[in-house]
Amino acid sequence: MALWGGRFTQAADTRFKQFNDSLRFDYRLAEQDIVGSIAWSKSLRSVGVLTAAEQKQLELALNELKLSVMEDPEQILKSDAEDIHSWVEQQLIDRVGDLGKKLHTGRSRNDQVATDLKLWCRQQGQQLLLALDKLQDQLVTVASENQTTVLPGYTHLQRAQPVTFAHWCLAYVEMFERDYSRLSDAMNRFDTCPLGSGALAGTAYPIDREALAHSLGFQRATRNSLDSVSDRDHVMELMSVASVSMLHLSRMAEDLIFYNSGESNFIELADTVTSGSSLMPQKKNPDALELIRGKTGRVYGAMASMMMTVKALPLAYNKDMQEDKEGLFDALDTWFDCLEMATLCFEGITINAQRTLEAAMQGYSNATELADYLVAKGIPFREAHHIVGVAVVTAIGKSCALEELSLDEMKAFSEVIEDDVYPILTIESCLEKRCALGGVASDQVSYAISEAEKRLESR
Ligand code: ARG
Repeated sequence: MALWGGRFTQAADTRFKQFNDSLRFDYRLAEQDIVGSIAWSKSLRSVGVLTAAEQKQLELALNELKLSVMEDPEQILKSDAEDIHSWVEQQLIDRVGDLGKKLHTGRSRNDQVATDLKLWCRQQGQQLLLALDKLQDQLVTVASENQTTVLPGYTHLQRAQPVTFAHWCLAYVEMFERDYSRLSDAMNRFDTCPLGSGALAGTAYPIDREALAHSLGFQRATRNSLDSVSDRDHVMELMSVASVSMLHLSRMAEDLIFYNSGESNFIELADTVTSGSSLMPQKKNPDALELIRGKTGRVYGAMASMMMTVKALPLAYNKDMQEDKEGLFDALDTWFDCLEMATLCFEGITINAQRTLEAAMQGYSNATELADYLVAKGIPFREAHHIVGVAVVTAIGKSCALEELSLDEMKAFSEVIEDDVYPILTIESCLEKRCALGGVASDQVSYAISEAEKRLESR
């Protein structure tokens, strides 16, 4: 039975009912709706709408319902209730009779759905914090195992200067750390309880809303009833945090897809996260990574769709807002799955250190070292840059590396070059020279690893 039949003389068209009903997706709020209802029943008792015995009876029935829902959430989908709020109320009435009809006193589905969704966002946010944490943890593990694994560093996808695989991992640890902080920050901001705001103007019962907020684990009650029922900032904030994090995941996936290509051959992904081709027997495709990259678009789509849905809504609640859930659920599910999948990819990754070293030694990524060497010998940098450019062209002509040029050949570029140039041109030297904070030198990398470990342990 609908919650609002009295005013109507005609039944809803079945097509409208299908169009209007939200149970098929908001059934995911069942637990939150029940928990919110228990808290509300206590508020009703505190203002004398329910007796202590009535409240106890409702609480008992709601707790039973919660257990049953947790065991079998799919049962909800068999109902033709309009939404999760109607479903919970109907179940309650089935269990305790007319007493169940008292629960909605002073409450509206508008403050109810806002509360349910915030509770859900908080729970999901906590799962996501954990998933971000796990991925960082895995990256730090791979980093500590690969402190001496040399990797070509790129700009413009051209080999630029050598780095280490550890340094590359730690770059993504930084990105996921910012995502973690953004998510915590957003969660902190929406830690406010809308329940007791009524339909829009506030509830007509003298309920202690701060106490109600605390009983549901919120920091405080929301301050304005109109805002309370129409605010969906938390939905948009979560989706924007998800979007930025998906961007990080997608860039990481793209790097790894490239490293995994036959042309690079830097890494091999485990069989557990790859798939084959139906036609080409030799293929092992990086599907997990490609899907991470691909799913990024759909998270952005959900965010854009939500912004457009809300942008022209007058205060306060409008049914348009029911459109908030599917996109949010999908975006956060997708983000969670991608974090988990990325973690899984690193668990089984094999790094071909011989190949990454070879690649780092090709491509003249020690050219900057030669220029710095000339500068140290008194040549102005701009001139040194030009000299080394000529040296690189010469080496390319001879199909050799800079360090393979003889001293005589070197001297043809500049008289100041001596035998001491060769140690400068080694990969070790390239790496170790970058010893300022945040650089790729081994001390800096091991310092970064221990700082990241400390950070992860302290949460
Ligand atoms: N299913 C609705 C939603 O998701 C619940 C709130 C309904 N409120 C109303 N006044 N019709 O937004």
